[in-house]
Amino acid sequence: MSDTITIFDTTLRDGEQSPGCSMDTAEKLEVAKALVELGVDVVEAGFPIASPGDFEAVQKIAEMYGDQSTICALARCRKEDVDRAWEALQHAKNARIHVFLATSAIHREFKLKMAKEEIIRRAVEMVKYASDQMATRSDITVPNVEFSPEDASRTELDFLCEVVEKTIDAGATTVNIPDTVGYATPDHFRTVISYLKANVPNIDRAVISTHCHNDLGLAVANSLAGVESGARQIECTMNGLGERAGNAALEEVVMALKTRQDYFKVETNINTKKLYPTSRLISNVTGMAVQRNKAIVGQNAFAHESGIHQHGMLQERTTYEIMRPEDVGYVGQNLVLGKHSGRHAFRDRIETLGFSLNDEDFQKVFDAFIALADKKKEIYDSDVIALVDNQSSAL
Ligand code: KIV
Ligand code: ZN
Repeated sequence: MSDTITIFDTTLRDGEQSPGCSMDTAEKLEVAKALVELGVDVVEAGFPIASPGDFEAVQKIAEMYGDQSTICALARCRKEDVDRAWEALQHAKNARIHVFLATSAIHREFKLKMAKEEIIRRAVEMVKYASDQMATRSDITVPNVEFSPEDASRTELDFLCEVVEKTIDAGATTVNIPDTVGYATPDHFRTVISYLKANVPNIDRAVISTHCHNDLGLAVANSLAGVESGARQIECTMNGLGERAGNAALEEVVMALKTRQDYFKVETNINTKKLYPTSRLISNVTGMAVQRNKAIVGQNAFAHESGIHQHGMLQERTTYEIMRPEDVGYVGQNLVLGKHSGRHAFRDRIETLGFSLNDEDFQKVFDAFIALADKKKEIYDSDVIALVDNQSSAL
């Protein structure tokens, strides 16, 4: 079993489904670049059949970054979805088609109005179709196809096993187990993954993946429970963006695996020093603020207020610190900019906070900074963010 967990980021697909988080193509390209630089293994770039905008974004991301990460496109179990996904991915050196179909009794009865046999037939047919399409490209020897039984955590276990076994036989190289409505608990999720491992005869031919939603605040805990029981891919989003209460937060799963490497004994390819700047960039692009006390990337994540804690920290950081802020690229609130800080320091801080400004906008924000620094001795990150925000809203 591989000791490296594949980090599959779905900020641009499930994350974009957060109310108020939609992005245009230019913004998606900026986010994709940051995710690739962060070291994400698979970037789920969108759902091409959903709209021409989604198609265009997936196509451009595939062209620009498909040689650095695997670019994935989502499709329902319909030929036209798979065709559109594959068309968008044509120019990705490393491409994956992600096919999904709901399997739980509630979805079968009320949403799909399909019997179990029909679900299996469709899933198998579309996984095979996706695999055959990909195999037409001469440079692809093993088509990279993922199958997700939507609402897996509320699906009867024996039926789930049957679907997983047959879709692996049809060509799925990753089987993703979504907790679509965030209903699972860590023990429950661990049981589901362990049951699949014990009862699906061909399970070792595919990578098992987790996809946990956060309705009960358990998405990260459930994803980690999945890893404990043998999952080797985690689907997640930066800042935990996603439908309703969101998806498992990438920064949290990655830092949990790294900080407790002694326990999980697995690694990821994420450059953790880029977590904070990437989080800031995505917050700026989507307009979705990160809560101050958010684990790993919140403003307070490394702030120690109480005297006892501060005293302990001054003697030995590890008394109250389990991760070093610099390991997640957090530069701290304590370093202050003043009127003697030069343009270079100011640009550096702006980039660390996740903004990328052209020269003209940078000059305007820098002028505003100098004016503010004349009145205020110390300029904090929150001041810098406000200066950039004011400049953006003036455009
Ligand atoms: O939550 C979910 O079930 C999904 C699937 C499309 C994987 O996002
Ligand atoms: Zn989802």
